[in-house]
Amino acid sequence: MASLANKLTEIVGAAFEACGLPPELGRVAVSDRQDLAQFQCNGAMAAAKQAKKNPREVAQAVIEVLQSRKEFSKIEIAGPGFINLNVTDEYLAAHLASVAGDARLGVDRTAKAETVILDYGGYNIAKPLHVGHLRSTIIGDAINKIMKTAGHKTISDVHFGDWGTQMGIVISELEIMHPEWPYFDEAFAKEYPKESPVTIADLDRIYPEASKACKENEVRLEKAKAATRALQGGHRGYRALWQHFVDVSVADVKKNLATLNVDFDLWDGEASANPSVKPIVDDLKAKKLAFESDGALVMAVAKNDDNKEMPPLILYKSDGAVMYGTTDLATIFDRMQKYKPAKIIYIVDQRQSLHFEQVFRAARISGAAPNDVELLHTGFGTMNGTDGKPFKTRAGGVMKLEDLISMGVEKARARLAEADLAQDMGAAEREDIAHKVAIAAIKFADLQNNRTADYVFDIDRMTSFEGKTGPYLLYQAVRIKSLLRKAAEQGFKPGKTFILQDADKTLALLLTELPDAFDGALRNYTPHLLCDYAYRLATAFSSFYAACHILSEADEALRASRLALCEITQRQLELVLGLLGIGVPERM
Ligand code: ARG
Repeated sequence: MASLANKLTEIVGAAFEACGLPPELGRVAVSDRQDLAQFQCNGAMAAAKQAKKNPREVAQAVIEVLQSRKEFSKIEIAGPGFINLNVTDEYLAAHLASVAGDARLGVDRTAKAETVILDYGGYNIAKPLHVGHLRSTIIGDAINKIMKTAGHKTISDVHFGDWGTQMGIVISELEIMHPEWPYFDEAFAKEYPKESPVTIADLDRIYPEASKACKENEVRLEKAKAATRALQGGHRGYRALWQHFVDVSVADVKKNLATLNVDFDLWDGEASANPSVKPIVDDLKAKKLAFESDGALVMAVAKNDDNKEMPPLILYKSDGAVMYGTTDLATIFDRMQKYKPAKIIYIVDQRQSLHFEQVFRAARISGAAPNDVELLHTGFGTMNGTDGKPFKTRAGGVMKLEDLISMGVEKARARLAEADLAQDMGAAEREDIAHKVAIAAIKFADLQNNRTADYVFDIDRMTSFEGKTGPYLLYQAVRIKSLLRKAAEQGFKPGKTFILQDADKTLALLLTELPDAFDGALRNYTPHLLCDYAYRLATAFSSFYAACHILSEADEALRASRLALCEITQRQLELVLGLLGIGVPERM
């Protein structure tokens, strides 16, 4: 089902056509001056320019055609040639009835469903999860849900960072610490122990220490590089140890993701593509597309019309280790073979844009991805602290995801107490609500920004029950749920028809806009458009609630109509919050 503005666009577009003007100029949008009109069309100006006519005269001609239509209660020309439109209450009411009767609330399925691979998460094995990974997870999950709802077949892949130098750093550190372990005994031919010799806490401690040691000492770094190379080359003991790291890290990631309510279809990583690396590189060599440069094996990806420097993609380092770009190239190749996607979308920090540009070009040159397959890097900005610098712990370290969530939950508990919410509940339920509030706060604070902008992580602000926050939206959604429950207890049912008095109209009109917000978010991979919609909906509902009698309305038909508005609002809020990965509790 189209939004109301889209339906009007059809009508006005046809009127433009009837006047011999391009129909696409008849686009109607919700007016930004609701005091003047509900909708407006600005196309007469452009049409007049093309036809070399006076814009008001063009608008007048269009209006004359529109006069015969029964959808409008007001058609006016304003200023230099704006066409201002109001619809009749009957038309608006009929549209609302169709929204209410639609399980999808007016949100259409795409006409062309595609297989789409979404690459997000990107956690690094043996390195702690940090806030950049949080952004990737939250935004990626929202884009996934939006695309799925549109009817695409999405495949999410966590693409672990499990093949880089950090693996060699940790392996070599363990070898220094425990040379007696069987993993380091070249002569060891039996089965390695099933139990991991390290825990996630060990890894969290070892990596930063070892990484520091490598930075300070050339010889130490060489050991790490040699271990990385040996691992990639198939060293049996290193592989076994590596598998332990993967297993303990994956278990830890899964635990964190469960608190965020996020899951993945594929749990692959850089290493998954390793078997394809050699055949791809051999092929590139055979085609003379890969060559040696300073001992490394590289492929050129620059084009003649580049206006910025485009360095070659390094396939093998001079020491023989494969690079981040090599595994990404091989992963594209594998994904094409296995899933034949129409698109692969990477939801990764925008500071990696050069990397993706190189990889995408390499994928075209090597033939890993044909030209009709879209490769897209949807980057995001940095999450900063309230001091404007990249977010850190108080001690200046990397904030672990777990700690960040606990911080949110603690704050949410205090906020609930302050607002006297959920205080009459049992401890377990109250804790569950505090968790939901915290997750809503963290996710909404991230998603409400245009994805490419940097944003400030301000735990006080994002957990507030006032303003454009997740908790405010949850609160409004819960309030409507409880109102609808009360209505049901009193035997009042939402009606199927609408009576629209002035105080009902702002909310009623807004409820026709969901498809526009959804389509915008889908087209541009911009969940913030849905955040805006949810916030507008919640505030419009708040004004409606303050201005209108609902349960106390004596007129039965009007009461039923208002309950129906409440119900659509609640369903839309829950739908939109769900797309953002935010669950709404029954009460609060
Ligand atoms: N592991 C990388 C990082 O932490 C992100 C991986 C993104 N995905 C990809 N296919 N390169 O920066």
